[in-house]
Amino acid sequence: MAVPLFDNSSPLRPLREQLREAVARVLDSERYILGPEVSAFERELAAYCGVDHAVGVANGTDAITIALRAMGVGPGDDVVVPSFTFYASVEAIAPTGARPVFCDIDARTYCVTAETVRAALTPRTKAVIAVHLFGNVAPVPEIAALGVPVLEDAAQAAGSDSPAGRPGALGAAGTFSFYPSKNLACFGDGGAIVTSDPELAQRARILRFHGSRDKVGYEALGYNSRLDELQAAVLRVQLPHLDAWARGRREAERLYREAGLAELAQLPLAERGVAPAWHVYAIAHRHVDALQAALQAAGVGCKPYYRTPVHRQPPMREWGEGVELPATEQAARAHLAIPMSPLLTTAQAEEVVAAARPA
Ligand SMILES: Cc1ncc(COP(=O)(O)O)c(C=O)c1O
Repeated sequence: MAVPLFDNSSPLRPLREQLREAVARVLDSERYILGPEVSAFERELAAYCGVDHAVGVANGTDAITIALRAMGVGPGDDVVVPSFTFYASVEAIAPTGARPVFCDIDARTYCVTAETVRAALTPRTKAVIAVHLFGNVAPVPEIAALGVPVLEDAAQAAGSDSPAGRPGALGAAGTFSFYPSKNLACFGDGGAIVTSDPELAQRARILRFHGSRDKVGYEALGYNSRLDELQAAVLRVQLPHLDAWARGRREAERLYREAGLAELAQLPLAERGVAPAWHVYAIAHRHVDALQAALQAAGVGCKPYYRTPVHRQPPMREWGEGVELPATEQAARAHLAIPMSPLLTTAQAEEVVAAARPA
């Protein structure tokens, strides 16, 4: 029996009728942009995260650019960012005119730490992007204690929780992506910025709307970057189920442990009290290519996510040349994502672990 890397459709199966109704509601309303569904979703997402404001935007990449600009980041500023992340975490800095400064991670959590951020601070650092990678939660309060505003890239961490609060509620602002494979996903592109800072939220609202409040007067060079009504309606159906899905993802990890995976590979580490909604379950192994081949031969979905870290991608040459990030290189070399879903069964977990066991 093949075990897929992701299973996004099974969790939605019981919601199909509600999803159809939500789409029909938007069709009947004939309101497609910045209408009641987006407003309601923004209220519901903010309440879920434990913040005062949410601003829907077109995708998770725009969310980062707009949030940084709303935080006052611009030309001449530095933004500290990990290199072991999805490319967009860094790419989104460039449109602000600021310079990405790469920092290392903890290879066991795949996240930045106060120490790795401190080592990358410069006199021009205006913000730090803490990526909650794979659904783990970076130690944002410790990083914020360094005295630099933190933007949380929570694209992969919807549903995760920590003793200090949910991703998005820990720093100056947080960003989400609702790309179809994400823990909270829409049927296309979508994203959001969350914050408890009313002025930051207002600046983000203006920036997503061409730098305008009313499309009559313009206060900034902005973007056309809005979450649309159809996507918001679809997200509203799913948000009430996010916590149950997150519990399912943690249960999947427990099943892997019970089946003996920790004896065969290094499992990702969460800091004390953190409850990750594993978006990606990435294990690490010294002979990762052989492990990947064995899993694939057994029909187990697996893939390395970031074999080449961002600072070594060609368009990053200007900022990445000469940068040395040992834990990033180690994680890049050794990680491998294995099947993860809210509905992973004991039999599937056992099958994955059996395939990972040396013959
Ligand atoms: C960590 C991270 N940041 C940013 C993004 C960008 O989001 P989007 O694809 O919605 O632009 C993604 C995912 O795609 C991501 O995984």
